[in-house]
Amino acid sequence: MKKIVVLSGAGMSAESGIGTFRDAGGLWEKYIIDDVATPDGFRRNPALVLDFYNQRRKQLVESKPNEGHLILAELENKYDIHIITQNVDNLHEQAGSTKVLHLHGELMKVRSTSASADVFELSNNNYEINLGDKCPKGYQLRPHIVWFGEEVPEIENAVDIVKTADILVVIGTSMQVYPAASLINYVKTTSTVYLIDPLDIEHLPTHVHVIKNIASKGLKEFVKMID
Ligand code: OAD
Repeated sequence: MKKIVVLSGAGMSAESGIGTFRDAGGLWEKYIIDDVATPDGFRRNPALVLDFYNQRRKQLVESKPNEGHLILAELENKYDIHIITQNVDNLHEQAGSTKVLHLHGELMKVRSTSASADVFELSNNNYEINLGDKCPKGYQLRPHIVWFGEEVPEIENAVDIVKTADILVVIGTSMQVYPAASLINYVKTTSTVYLIDPLDIEHLPTHVHVIKNIASKGLKEFVKMID
């Protein structure tokens, strides 16, 4: 079975109604990264950060996987599909994909701010955490998100997966955030690389086949190309 590795970003979930970060009108036009997505921001104003992620979870529980997520799940019938996602939503899993690695954490998980960093799962009915919400050992809970300036614990696993890809398909990421954006450099020289995005992505390696389209339509083109 051919191994297809997917590297997905915010554009993957755009058709589910979840806004991206850097497009016009994106989240980073409305919020200051340093305030809501850094350890310093959390120290300065934890209530603001917790509220920001409560809003993201509210949006997620009101969303569902789109056609693109479903196409990727369906492809598991014919290919060994591994998804490496920068997205913190769980729409790949909801669509039925079984091998999903979250590089930047997961919205529906929270963890203790103690050194043990115990992780807890939230539910669709009970997805908010607020100041004063503590783990059983009495430590404040925080989002299970990799903030800017924090280590990316899954990056080595992701590199190992990319190194074994026959096909790499990059979907809906501006490729501006590292180390995620560097993963494309780890493919074997014999593997084929596709990129699906409606906008031009800068500084791509020359061997990339660009499919200039939104995720669902681009994935349909991709499936025809590899069939
Ligand atoms: P960006 O917002 O930087 O990029 C989104 C990409 O999706 C852009 O290239 C868009 O052109 C593309 N796009 C928009 N609509 C699309 C659609 N319908 N189908 C396909 N592509 C579409 O998001 P990321 O690259 O994912 O990290 O951002 C990377 C990281 O930066 C995120 O994981 C997040 C953010 O800050 C953290 O919060 C730690």
